[in-house]
Amino acid sequence: MPEQDTAPPQLLCGSSELQERGKAVTFDVIQWREPVRAFALRFDGQAVAYLNRCAHVPTEMDWQEGEFLDADKRFIMCSIHGAVYDPLSGQCVMGPCNRGRLTKIEVTERDGEVYWHPTRDTKPAFQD
Ligand code: FES
Repeated sequence: MPEQDTAPPQLLCGSSELQERGKAVTFDVIQWREPVRAFALRFDGQAVAYLNRCAHVPTEMDWQEGEFLDADKRFIMCSIHGAVYDPLSGQCVMGPCNRGRLTKIEVTERDGEVYWHPTRDTKPAFQD
């Protein structure tokens, strides 16, 4: 039997904590043994999550803790130099991120709760 090297889905928050185009819920992950912040938000009814790391310069993007959307709440916008990302795909649509994209974290919702799915590269913060 192959060794299982990914952790099971991790509880992130209650579904009701992710309001449509509202404030993101932030959480911590380990990517390649380094701690990285991540965030989840709801857009067009879908819960989505990404590493909090801009494709332009690998730095955190929020304007204030959990605030990632532009003034019109149509796009994720980096607070540093204004890179603009599609909230559902994480693809750069404008600004200095060029053809880059945010690193997506798979999330699912079940019984009123949101879970994120670790991978071989992106693990829960309590693992290394
Ligand atoms: S660091 Fe995000 S746009 Fe430059």
